[in-house]
Amino acid sequence: MNNAVILNSINKSFGEAEYKNQVLFDINLNIPLGKINFIVGPSGCGKTTLISIIAGILNQDSGKVKLLDKDQKDLTEKAKSSFRKENIGFIFQQFNLVPTISVIENVAIPLLIQGKGFSEALKRASKILNKVGLKDKEKSLPKKSI
Ligand SMILES: Nc1ncnc2c1ncn2[C@@H]1O[C@H](COP(=O)(O)OP(=O)(O)O)[C@@H](O)[C@H]1O
Ligand SMILES: [Mg+2]
Repeated sequence: MNNAVILNSINKSFGEAEYKNQVLFDINLNIPLGKINFIVGPSGCGKTTLISIIAGILNQDSGKVKLLDKDQKDLTEKAKSSFRKENIGFIFQQFNLVPTISVIENVAIPLLIQGKGFSEALKRASKILNKVGLKDKEKSLPKKSI
C-alpha cells in the first residue's frame, strides 16, 4: 500500500434544479502514505466539502474514495464510522473541544470511544501532550490553555 488517500473523479453539488451549486468537479487526488498535504484555496471553493468526503462524513454524488486501500463504497455507514474512529483524526476550525473537561481528558476522549480503559487512555494522552510540548497544560481547561 503506497497511498493513504486516492480520489477518482469526485463530483459534488448542493441543492436542486435551479438552486443546484456544483462545488467539486472531477477531483482526482493521490496522497501518499506518510506525506503531509495542504488543501488551499479561497473561502467557499470546496475545501471543507472535499475533506468531509475524504473522511466519509459527506457522500459524493459520483466518483470513488479509497482510504488505506479500502474502497469506501464497500462499507456500510456503521463500518465507515468505525473506520473513521480507527484511522482518521480531525482538528476542526472551531476546535470542538469540550470546555468543561481538562486538556488531557479532551485528548483521551477518542481513546475512550475506541474502548480503552480510563487510566490507559489518560496515560497515552499524557504521552502525546508531552510530545507536542503541552504537558504543563494537562490539567487546564481548554479555554485557559489557548
Ligand atoms: N451543506 C451545504 N448546503 C449547501 N451548500 C453548501 C453546503 N456546504 C457547503 N456549501 C457550499 O459549497 C461551497 C463550498 O463550501 P466549503 O466546502 O465549505 O468551502 P471552503 O471550506 O473552501 O470555504 C460554498 O459555496 C458553500 O456555500
Ligand atoms: Mg472550510
